[in-house]
Amino acid sequence: MNVENGYVDAPVAEDLDLKAEIERLKKEKNAVILAHYYTDGEVQNVADFVGDSLALAQIASKLDNDIIVMCGVHFMGETVKILCPDRKVLVPDMNAGCSLADSCKAEDLKKFIEEHPGHTVISYVNTTAAVKALTDIVVTSGNAMKVVGSLPADEKIIFGPDRNLGNYINSMTGRQMVLWDGACHVHEKFSLEKLLELKKQYPEAKVLVHPECTAPVRMVGDKVGSTAVLLQWARESEADTFIVATESGILHEMTRLCPGKRFIPVPPNDSTCACNECSYMKLNTLRKLYLTLRYEQPEIKVDAEIIDRARRPISRMLEIK
Ligand code: 13P
Ligand code: SF4
Repeated sequence: MNVENGYVDAPVAEDLDLKAEIERLKKEKNAVILAHYYTDGEVQNVADFVGDSLALAQIASKLDNDIIVMCGVHFMGETVKILCPDRKVLVPDMNAGCSLADSCKAEDLKKFIEEHPGHTVISYVNTTAAVKALTDIVVTSGNAMKVVGSLPADEKIIFGPDRNLGNYINSMTGRQMVLWDGACHVHEKFSLEKLLELKKQYPEAKVLVHPECTAPVRMVGDKVGSTAVLLQWARESEADTFIVATESGILHEMTRLCPGKRFIPVPPNDSTCACNECSYMKLNTLRKLYLTLRYEQPEIKVDAEIIDRARRPISRMLEIK
């Protein structure tokens, strides 16, 4: 067995029932599995909790398991470790990064903050632990509007790293937050042209858009929101067809929760694929999840001092109801 490549590399018998083994190991080790909506359906199916970034952080803060496996991307594993520092936090593949988190290095943000004295720093949860440690309040797409709304109207704010989410909040609240110039490579490449074609093809369909999408795509949305908000809206809507502009893994839970309704993914602008996938999220496979539980590797480690500093802005977020 080795973990040199960022995931456990070990032989697995071809006829092994991975699902049954995962269940067995979970019980034996008092482990729990969290999965983001963007992971593959088969990973979501074995998870104890499936959710958006906000829900997963809220759940993690209340868990008492010895081992927590986070099937998502690296920053999500770090968030769990910050909230549960005495627990073993595992991820199936350390290579599951995030282009948005990568667009904001802690040393660059530090400089940016120095250039804008007197500003409250709000960071999207899609950031490294080191960036969170420089932050006053962490937000997710599920609560960003509420958190910003809880601050006095004249408060000077730096918002990062997602310029699209930041622009969206500025446009909805009339604020003029100073924005970090970062973006998610998946959400920025939804094709407006293909979305408009789908709207013509399905005139009755409602359009669901994640706020990390660009403004022209957002403007076509009947509902703009986090993955959990979009799910809830689709459940409650009387419409039966939805055009979905967020990572296509969400369609698994949408279809499960809304039997009989139809969900059509918006394609990206740079390929002939019908779906727009986050390749990082798809690194979480059932096989790697099994090996992670079996060998208890790879483990998320965060410097104790960073944990101390990063916990406060996450707790502030979780306290805002
Ligand atoms: P949510 O906050 O909706 O879970 O989204 C997280 C994410 O990575 C979006 O790309
Ligand atoms: Fe990061 Fe974008 Fe993937 Fe979300 S979809 S994890 S923001 S790269």
